[in-house]
Amino acid sequence: MSSGIRRISLGIDWLDYAMLGGVPRGNWLLITGEPGVGKSILTIQAAGANVNAMPVVYVSTETRFYDVVRQAKQFNIDLTDAVSLADVLTGRVKDVKTNLVVIDLFGLAREYRELLRASEEEGRTKAKSPLSMEVVMASIEKAYEILGISEEGRVTKDVLVIIDSLAPMWSHAPAMARLITYRLRQRLYRSNVTVIMTNQYAPTTGMTFGFGAEHIADAIIHMWIEEPEKKKEIERWLIIKKARLTNHYRKAMKFEIEPGKGLTLIEPGIDELRKWFNEYAGKQEPNEE
Ligand SMILES: Nc1ncnc2c1ncn2[C@@H]1O[C@H](COP(=O)(O)OP(=O)(O)OP(=O)(O)O)[C@@H](O)[C@H]1O
Ligand SMILES: [Mg+2]
Repeated sequence: MSSGIRRISLGIDWLDYAMLGGVPRGNWLLITGEPGVGKSILTIQAAGANVNAMPVVYVSTETRFYDVVRQAKQFNIDLTDAVSLADVLTGRVKDVKTNLVVIDLFGLAREYRELLRASEEEGRTKAKSPLSMEVVMASIEKAYEILGISEEGRVTKDVLVIIDSLAPMWSHAPAMARLITYRLRQRLYRSNVTVIMTNQYAPTTGMTFGFGAEHIADAIIHMWIEEPEKKKEIERWLIIKKARLTNHYRKAMKFEIEPGKGLTLIEPGIDELRKWFNEYAGKQEPNEE
């Protein structure tokens, strides 16, 4: 898929069409939605689609490293070359050659004190929890080193950073969600760092937990399950709610999660999305300088 802006594929053909080829390079995409709707699977598909072309850092705050790889396998995505940051830090894995570093923050809980010490030595704020923004940042920077893309604080290559999910980072202070996400963005921002992050959404209140990340994200994909009590079945929908600097498909899309395949489109048909893509791809999008 070609257009003026360089884009990172989401690993899902119909969703790539709806986003004119994917997430614009350097953008922050937020995926919101209720539990079990498919946020994590979407991020795993995005990781799988890009890992052969560019380095990927996958921050998992809620699932073990092993479960990320196992879930991927259920959808025919091979992430077995992934390396866990905790395994590198503890010396269990040496001479790392990989394009995918998974930061398993459960696994890191024991090692985090070491990261904290390094962060404090550099005069950064003292972090309080293994899931603090400081630890996440220090871990991501460590992952850049392992991937061989870090040079004097610069990131030397295009990289995809996935954070699944943001919520635990501010669970101790929900009112700080916006500030914490903003700080994370400031620290992580580079024109060659594309970010996909997820956040939970409470169906009862219609609010994301820790409201605030939405304003900081460049694009939002919102996912929901349509009235399961009435429908008496799981009917999944998603909509691209916002996308800065790019056109995007405006209608909700109905999908299912299929074993071996992942997120599959039910409605509208793929032809409708392809048609829409062909109509708008490359229009009013000057090339990057
Ligand atoms: N192997 C599989 N085959 C088919 N469907 C699956 C498979 N594994 C999980 N699912 C479906 O995917 C759902 C979980 O999706 P996912 O983990 O992406 O949700 P999530 O939005 O990340 O939820 P949470 O907010 O709780 O993390 C399950 O509830 C199930 O319906
Ligand atoms: Mg999840």
